Amino acid sequence: EQAGKGEYDHFMLKEIHEQPTALSQALEGRIDTQNARIALADFEPGTFADVDSVQFVACGTSYHAALYGSLALKQAGIESTALLANEYSVSAPPVDDDTLVVAVTQSGETADTLNALRQAEAEGAMTVTVTNVVGSTAAREADEALFIRAGPEIGVAATKTFSSQAVMLTLLGQRIAADRHGEPSADLETLLPDLAAMPDAIDDLLAETDAEAIAERYHGSRSYFFIGRGLGFPVALEGALKFKEITYEHAEGFASGELKHGPLALVTPDTPVFAIFTGQEDEKTLKNAEEAQTRGAPVIAVCPEGHRAVDVADAHLEIPETDADLAGLLANVQLQLVSYYAADLLDRPIDKPRNLAKSVTVE
Ligand code: G6P
Repeated sequence: EQAGKGEYDHFMLKEIHEQPTALSQALEGRIDTQNARIALADFEPGTFADVDSVQFVACGTSYHAALYGSLALKQAGIESTALLANEYSVSAPPVDDDTLVVAVTQSGETADTLNALRQAEAEGAMTVTVTNVVGSTAAREADEALFIRAGPEIGVAATKTFSSQAVMLTLLGQRIAADRHGEPSADLETLLPDLAAMPDAIDDLLAETDAEAIAERYHGSRSYFFIGRGLGFPVALEGALKFKEITYEHAEGFASGELKHGPLALVTPDTPVFAIFTGQEDEKTLKNAEEAQTRGAPVIAVCPEGHRAVDVADAHLEIPETDADLAGLLANVQLQLVSYYAADLLDRPIDKPRNLAKSVTVE
Protein backbone atom coordinates (compact mmCIF):
# COMPACT_ATOMS: atom_id res chain seq x y z
CA GLU A 1 0.00 0.00 0.00
CA GLN A 2 2.82 2.41 0.89
CA ALA A 3 4.23 1.89 -2.60
CA GLY A 4 0.98 3.14 -4.12
CA LYS A 5 1.19 6.33 -2.09
CA GLY A 6 4.57 7.27 -3.54
CA GLU A 7 6.08 10.25 -1.73
CA TYR A 8 2.84 10.99 0.17
CA ASP A 9 1.72 9.85 3.64
CA HIS A 10 -1.84 9.28 2.49
CA PHE A 11 -3.70 8.52 -0.71
CA MET A 12 -5.85 11.58 -0.06
CA LEU A 13 -2.88 13.95 -0.26
CA LYS A 14 -1.60 12.13 -3.33
CA GLU A 15 -4.99 12.44 -4.99
CA ILE A 16 -5.25 16.14 -4.13
CA HIS A 17 -1.90 16.59 -5.89
CA GLU A 18 -3.08 14.52 -8.87
CA GLN A 19 -5.76 17.08 -9.70
CA PRO A 20 -3.79 18.93 -12.40
CA THR A 21 -3.21 15.61 -14.21
CA ALA A 22 -6.79 14.47 -13.65
CA LEU A 23 -8.15 17.68 -15.17
CA SER A 24 -5.76 17.54 -18.12
CA GLN A 25 -6.99 14.02 -18.82
CA ALA A 26 -10.62 15.09 -18.47
CA LEU A 27 -10.20 17.97 -20.90
CA GLU A 28 -7.99 16.17 -23.42
CA GLY A 29 -9.57 16.44 -26.86
CA ARG A 30 -12.76 17.85 -25.43
CA ILE A 31 -12.27 21.60 -25.79
CA ASP A 32 -11.17 23.70 -28.70
CA THR A 33 -9.81 26.97 -27.34
CA GLN A 34 -8.67 28.16 -30.79
CA ASN A 35 -12.21 28.29 -32.15
CA ALA A 36 -13.94 29.04 -28.85
CA ARG A 37 -16.26 26.09 -29.21
CA ILE A 38 -16.64 22.94 -27.17
CA ALA A 39 -15.64 19.74 -28.84
CA LEU A 40 -17.11 17.17 -26.45
CA ALA A 41 -17.16 14.74 -29.34
CA ASP A 42 -18.41 12.18 -26.84
CA PHE A 43 -21.86 13.16 -28.10
CA GLU A 44 -23.28 13.35 -31.63
CA PRO A 45 -24.03 16.88 -32.92
CA GLY A 46 -27.44 18.08 -31.71
CA THR A 47 -27.79 15.33 -29.08
CA PHE A 48 -29.33 17.79 -26.62
CA ALA A 49 -31.24 19.98 -29.10
CA ASP A 50 -34.66 18.99 -27.69
CA VAL A 51 -33.76 19.11 -24.01
CA ASP A 52 -36.21 21.36 -22.13
CA SER A 53 -34.98 20.76 -18.62
CA VAL A 54 -32.23 18.88 -16.83
CA GLN A 55 -32.33 17.00 -13.54
CA PHE A 56 -29.07 16.00 -11.88
CA VAL A 57 -29.17 13.11 -9.41
CA ALA A 58 -26.31 12.13 -7.11
CA CYS A 59 -25.22 11.47 -3.51
CA GLY A 60 -22.50 12.79 -1.22
CA THR A 61 -19.66 14.65 -2.87
CA SER A 62 -21.09 13.85 -6.29
CA TYR A 63 -24.25 15.68 -5.23
CA HIS A 64 -22.18 18.79 -4.57
CA ALA A 65 -20.64 18.49 -8.04
CA ALA A 66 -24.18 18.03 -9.41
CA LEU A 67 -25.34 21.18 -7.62
CA TYR A 68 -22.37 23.00 -9.13
CA GLY A 69 -23.25 21.71 -12.61
CA SER A 70 -26.90 22.56 -12.17
CA LEU A 71 -26.16 26.16 -11.16
CA ALA A 72 -23.75 26.55 -14.08
CA LEU A 73 -26.42 25.24 -16.46
CA LYS A 74 -29.03 27.66 -15.09
CA GLN A 75 -26.58 30.47 -15.67
CA ALA A 76 -26.32 29.24 -19.28
CA GLY A 77 -30.09 29.70 -19.58
CA ILE A 78 -31.34 26.10 -19.21
CA GLU A 79 -33.90 25.03 -16.61
CA SER A 80 -32.16 22.64 -14.27
CA THR A 81 -32.22 21.23 -10.77
CA ALA A 82 -29.98 19.00 -8.65
CA LEU A 83 -31.64 16.35 -6.52
CA LEU A 84 -30.36 13.97 -3.90
CA ALA A 85 -30.69 10.55 -5.55
CA ASN A 86 -31.99 9.01 -2.32
CA GLU A 87 -34.85 11.55 -2.30
CA TYR A 88 -35.67 11.14 -5.98
CA SER A 89 -38.42 8.55 -5.53
CA VAL A 90 -40.34 10.98 -3.31
CA SER A 91 -39.31 14.34 -4.77
CA ALA A 92 -38.70 13.97 -8.51
CA PRO A 93 -40.14 16.80 -10.59
CA PRO A 94 -42.23 15.70 -13.61
CA VAL A 95 -40.26 13.97 -16.35
CA ASP A 96 -41.02 13.60 -20.06
CA ASP A 97 -39.01 12.68 -23.13
CA ASP A 98 -37.58 16.23 -23.33
CA THR A 99 -36.15 15.88 -19.83
CA LEU A 100 -32.50 14.98 -19.48
CA VAL A 101 -31.53 13.20 -16.27
CA VAL A 102 -27.82 13.25 -15.46
CA ALA A 103 -26.63 10.70 -12.89
CA VAL A 104 -23.35 11.90 -11.36
CA THR A 105 -21.50 9.05 -9.69
CA GLN A 106 -17.77 8.52 -9.34
CA SER A 107 -18.07 4.75 -8.92
CA GLY A 108 -21.10 4.25 -11.11
CA GLU A 109 -22.30 1.75 -8.49
CA THR A 110 -24.09 3.82 -5.80
CA ALA A 111 -27.43 2.09 -5.21
CA ASP A 112 -29.38 5.29 -4.53
CA THR A 113 -28.11 6.88 -7.74
CA LEU A 114 -28.80 3.77 -9.82
CA ASN A 115 -32.36 3.67 -8.45
CA ALA A 116 -32.94 7.28 -9.48
CA LEU A 117 -31.43 6.60 -12.91
CA ARG A 118 -33.71 3.59 -13.41
CA GLN A 119 -36.78 5.54 -12.30
CA ALA A 120 -35.96 8.33 -14.78
CA GLU A 121 -35.50 5.80 -17.58
CA ALA A 122 -38.78 4.08 -16.76
CA GLU A 123 -40.50 7.46 -16.99
CA GLY A 124 -39.07 8.12 -20.45
CA ALA A 125 -36.29 10.63 -19.75
CA MET A 126 -33.09 10.72 -21.75
CA THR A 127 -30.23 9.75 -19.41
CA VAL A 128 -26.53 10.51 -19.20
CA THR A 129 -24.12 9.39 -16.50
CA VAL A 130 -21.00 11.33 -15.58
CA THR A 131 -18.73 8.74 -14.02
CA ASN A 132 -15.13 7.72 -13.48
CA VAL A 133 -15.56 4.01 -14.09
CA VAL A 134 -15.78 2.56 -17.59
CA GLY A 135 -17.94 -0.56 -17.51
CA SER A 136 -19.73 0.48 -14.30
CA THR A 137 -23.43 -0.22 -13.88
CA ALA A 138 -24.34 3.44 -14.44
CA ALA A 139 -22.22 3.56 -17.60
CA ARG A 140 -23.93 0.45 -18.94
CA GLU A 141 -27.47 1.49 -18.06
CA ALA A 142 -27.57 5.19 -18.99
CA ASP A 143 -28.26 6.17 -22.61
CA GLU A 144 -24.91 7.97 -22.75
CA ALA A 145 -21.83 8.02 -20.52
CA LEU A 146 -19.36 10.86 -20.08
CA PHE A 147 -16.16 9.62 -18.45
CA ILE A 148 -14.24 11.99 -16.21
CA ARG A 149 -10.93 10.06 -16.66
CA ALA A 150 -9.66 10.99 -13.17
CA GLY A 151 -7.89 7.66 -12.66
CA PRO A 152 -8.51 5.42 -9.62
CA GLU A 153 -9.34 7.18 -6.36
CA ILE A 154 -8.41 5.17 -3.25
CA GLY A 155 -9.11 7.65 -0.43
CA VAL A 156 -12.69 7.26 0.77
CA ALA A 157 -13.11 11.05 0.83
CA ALA A 158 -13.48 12.13 -2.80
CA THR A 159 -11.09 14.87 -3.93
CA LYS A 160 -9.81 14.75 -7.50
CA THR A 161 -13.03 13.18 -8.74
CA PHE A 162 -15.06 16.14 -7.41
CA SER A 163 -12.94 18.59 -9.40
CA SER A 164 -13.12 16.44 -12.51
CA GLN A 165 -16.88 15.99 -12.18
CA ALA A 166 -17.47 19.71 -11.72
CA VAL A 167 -15.31 20.58 -14.72
CA MET A 168 -16.99 17.98 -16.92
CA LEU A 169 -20.43 19.14 -15.80
CA THR A 170 -19.50 22.74 -16.63
CA LEU A 171 -18.49 21.57 -20.09
CA LEU A 172 -21.56 19.37 -20.50
CA GLY A 173 -23.75 22.32 -19.49
CA GLN A 174 -22.17 24.50 -22.14
CA ARG A 175 -22.70 21.76 -24.70
CA ILE A 176 -26.36 21.29 -23.72
CA ALA A 177 -26.93 25.06 -23.93
CA ALA A 178 -25.18 25.24 -27.32
CA ASP A 179 -27.28 22.39 -28.76
CA ARG A 180 -30.46 23.82 -27.31
CA HIS A 181 -29.86 27.43 -28.41
CA GLY A 182 -28.26 26.50 -31.74
CA GLU A 183 -25.05 28.37 -30.89
CA PRO A 184 -22.40 28.41 -28.15
CA SER A 185 -22.92 30.87 -25.31
CA ALA A 186 -21.18 34.24 -25.46
CA ASP A 187 -19.05 33.64 -22.35
CA LEU A 188 -17.44 30.55 -23.87
CA GLU A 189 -14.65 32.64 -25.34
CA THR A 190 -13.42 33.60 -21.88
CA LEU A 191 -14.39 30.35 -20.13
CA LEU A 192 -12.47 27.97 -22.41
CA PRO A 193 -8.99 29.44 -21.95
CA ASP A 194 -9.55 29.51 -18.17
CA LEU A 195 -10.74 25.90 -18.28
CA ALA A 196 -7.63 24.92 -20.22
CA ALA A 197 -5.52 26.77 -17.63
CA MET A 198 -7.08 24.98 -14.64
CA PRO A 199 -4.34 22.31 -14.33
CA ASP A 200 -1.64 25.02 -14.16
CA ALA A 201 -3.71 27.11 -11.76
CA ILE A 202 -4.02 24.14 -9.38
CA ASP A 203 -0.29 23.42 -9.71
CA ASP A 204 0.45 27.03 -8.70
CA LEU A 205 -1.97 26.86 -5.80
CA LEU A 206 -0.46 23.60 -4.52
CA ALA A 207 3.05 25.03 -4.70
CA GLU A 208 2.20 28.00 -2.48
CA THR A 209 -0.68 27.03 -0.23
CA ASP A 210 -0.93 28.17 3.41
CA ALA A 211 -3.51 25.48 4.20
CA GLU A 212 -1.25 23.65 6.65
CA ALA A 213 -0.63 26.82 8.66
CA ILE A 214 -4.37 27.57 8.72
CA ALA A 215 -5.11 24.03 9.93
CA GLU A 216 -2.49 24.42 12.67
CA ARG A 217 -3.90 27.76 13.73
CA TYR A 218 -7.56 26.75 13.92
CA HIS A 219 -7.72 23.01 14.66
CA GLY A 220 -9.25 22.21 18.03
CA SER A 221 -12.11 24.69 17.51
CA ARG A 222 -15.66 23.83 18.55
CA SER A 223 -17.22 23.93 15.06
CA TYR A 224 -16.24 25.01 11.56
CA PHE A 225 -18.52 26.90 9.19
CA PHE A 226 -18.18 27.30 5.45
CA ILE A 227 -20.11 29.96 3.54
CA GLY A 228 -20.42 30.72 -0.16
CA ARG A 229 -22.86 32.24 -2.64
CA GLY A 230 -23.84 31.06 -6.14
CA LEU A 231 -21.22 28.59 -7.31
CA GLY A 232 -19.50 29.11 -3.95
CA PHE A 233 -22.46 27.48 -2.18
CA PRO A 234 -21.85 23.87 -3.35
CA VAL A 235 -18.19 24.46 -2.51
CA ALA A 236 -19.17 25.51 1.02
CA LEU A 237 -21.20 22.30 1.35
CA GLU A 238 -18.34 20.21 0.01
CA GLY A 239 -15.79 21.98 2.23
CA ALA A 240 -17.86 21.12 5.29
CA LEU A 241 -18.53 17.53 4.21
CA LYS A 242 -14.82 16.88 3.61
CA PHE A 243 -13.97 18.40 6.96
CA LYS A 244 -16.42 16.25 8.93
CA GLU A 245 -15.65 13.07 6.96
CA ILE A 246 -11.98 13.02 7.81
CA THR A 247 -11.52 15.12 10.97
CA TYR A 248 -14.69 13.89 12.81
CA GLU A 249 -15.14 17.51 13.91
CA HIS A 250 -18.43 19.33 13.52
CA ALA A 251 -18.62 21.37 10.32
CA GLU A 252 -21.51 22.92 8.37
CA GLY A 253 -21.82 24.62 5.02
CA PHE A 254 -24.30 27.41 4.41
CA ALA A 255 -25.32 29.79 1.66
CA SER A 256 -23.68 33.05 2.78
CA GLY A 257 -26.96 34.94 2.96
CA GLU A 258 -28.54 32.20 5.06
CA LEU A 259 -26.10 32.62 7.95
CA LYS A 260 -28.21 35.38 9.48
CA HIS A 261 -31.38 33.26 9.32
CA GLY A 262 -30.39 30.89 12.11
CA PRO A 263 -26.83 29.55 11.99
CA LEU A 264 -25.52 32.89 13.34
CA ALA A 265 -26.81 31.73 16.75
CA LEU A 266 -24.01 29.13 16.71
CA VAL A 267 -21.25 31.59 15.84
CA THR A 268 -18.72 32.31 18.64
CA PRO A 269 -14.99 33.07 18.84
CA ASP A 270 -14.55 29.28 18.79
CA THR A 271 -16.18 28.73 15.38
CA PRO A 272 -13.91 29.69 12.46
CA VAL A 273 -15.82 30.73 9.33
CA PHE A 274 -14.31 29.93 5.93
CA ALA A 275 -15.76 32.39 3.40
CA ILE A 276 -15.50 31.51 -0.28
CA PHE A 277 -15.26 34.33 -2.82
CA THR A 278 -15.90 33.40 -6.45
CA GLY A 279 -16.53 36.82 -7.94
CA GLN A 280 -20.33 36.45 -7.78
CA GLU A 281 -21.78 39.09 -5.43
CA ASP A 282 -18.65 39.00 -3.28
CA GLU A 283 -19.61 42.21 -1.47
CA LYS A 284 -22.65 40.45 -0.02
CA THR A 285 -20.61 37.44 1.11
CA LEU A 286 -18.09 39.79 2.70
CA LYS A 287 -20.89 41.49 4.62
CA ASN A 288 -22.13 38.10 5.83
CA ALA A 289 -18.60 37.16 6.91
CA GLU A 290 -18.28 40.43 8.79
CA GLU A 291 -21.51 39.64 10.64
CA ALA A 292 -19.82 36.49 11.95
CA GLN A 293 -16.62 38.39 12.70
CA THR A 294 -18.58 40.93 14.78
CA ARG A 295 -19.63 37.98 16.97
CA GLY A 296 -15.97 37.14 17.46
CA ALA A 297 -15.58 34.37 14.89
CA PRO A 298 -12.29 34.30 13.00
CA VAL A 299 -12.92 34.63 9.26
CA ILE A 300 -10.69 32.87 6.76
CA ALA A 301 -11.26 34.27 3.28
CA VAL A 302 -10.63 32.01 0.30
CA CYS A 303 -10.08 34.46 -2.54
CA PRO A 304 -7.62 35.86 -5.08
CA GLU A 305 -4.72 38.00 -3.88
CA GLY A 306 -5.63 41.68 -3.73
CA HIS A 307 -9.29 40.92 -3.03
CA ARG A 308 -10.96 43.29 -0.58
CA ALA A 309 -11.73 40.34 1.72
CA VAL A 310 -8.00 39.94 2.44
CA ASP A 311 -8.01 43.23 4.38
CA VAL A 312 -11.12 42.34 6.35
CA ALA A 313 -10.47 38.66 7.15
CA ASP A 314 -8.34 37.32 10.01
CA ALA A 315 -6.51 35.06 7.56
CA HIS A 316 -6.77 34.09 3.94
CA LEU A 317 -6.07 31.31 1.48
CA GLU A 318 -5.12 32.50 -1.96
CA ILE A 319 -6.59 31.25 -5.21
CA PRO A 320 -5.26 32.12 -8.67
CA GLU A 321 -7.36 34.54 -10.75
CA THR A 322 -9.82 32.74 -13.02
CA ASP A 323 -13.34 32.81 -14.46
CA ALA A 324 -16.19 33.10 -11.91
CA ASP A 325 -17.44 29.74 -13.23
CA LEU A 326 -14.24 28.05 -12.01
CA ALA A 327 -13.00 30.04 -9.00
CA GLY A 328 -15.01 27.88 -6.59
CA LEU A 329 -13.13 24.79 -7.75
CA LEU A 330 -9.81 26.40 -6.86
CA ALA A 331 -11.21 27.43 -3.47
CA ASN A 332 -12.27 23.82 -2.99
CA VAL A 333 -8.69 22.60 -3.44
CA GLN A 334 -7.57 24.92 -0.61
CA LEU A 335 -10.37 23.57 1.57
CA GLN A 336 -9.44 19.95 0.77
CA LEU A 337 -5.96 20.72 2.03
CA VAL A 338 -7.21 22.38 5.22
CA SER A 339 -9.34 19.29 5.98
CA TYR A 340 -6.41 17.02 5.23
CA TYR A 341 -3.93 18.83 7.50
CA ALA A 342 -6.50 19.26 10.30
CA ALA A 343 -7.27 15.51 10.18
CA ASP A 344 -3.55 14.73 10.17
CA LEU A 345 -2.97 16.91 13.26
CA LEU A 346 -5.80 15.04 14.96
CA ASP A 347 -4.21 11.74 13.90
CA ARG A 348 -7.29 10.44 12.10
CA PRO A 349 -7.20 7.46 9.72
CA ILE A 350 -7.51 9.83 6.77
CA ASP A 351 -7.88 7.37 3.91
CA LYS A 352 -10.41 5.17 5.70
CA PRO A 353 -12.66 7.21 7.98
CA ARG A 354 -14.76 5.22 10.41
CA ASN A 355 -18.23 4.10 9.28
CA LEU A 356 -17.76 5.28 5.70
CA ALA A 357 -17.33 3.32 2.46
CA LYS A 358 -15.95 4.44 -0.89
CA SER A 359 -19.04 3.22 -2.64
CA VAL A 360 -22.38 2.45 -0.98
CA THR A 361 -24.15 -0.29 -2.91
CA VAL A 362 -27.13 -0.64 -0.57
CA GLU A 363 -30.16 1.65 -0.27
C1 G6P B 1 -20.03 7.35 -0.53
C2 G6P B 1 -18.65 7.97 -0.45
C3 G6P B 1 -18.68 9.43 -0.87
C4 G6P B 1 -19.31 9.57 -2.23
C5 G6P B 1 -20.70 8.93 -2.28
C6 G6P B 1 -21.24 8.87 -3.69
O1 G6P B 1 -20.85 7.88 0.47
O2 G6P B 1 -18.13 7.85 0.87
O3 G6P B 1 -17.37 9.96 -0.90
O4 G6P B 1 -19.39 10.91 -2.59
O5 G6P B 1 -20.62 7.59 -1.80
O6 G6P B 1 -20.44 8.01 -4.45
P1 G6P B 1 -20.44 7.97 -6.02
O7 G6P B 1 -19.55 6.81 -6.38
O8 G6P B 1 -21.86 7.74 -6.45
O9 G6P B 1 -19.93 9.27 -6.50
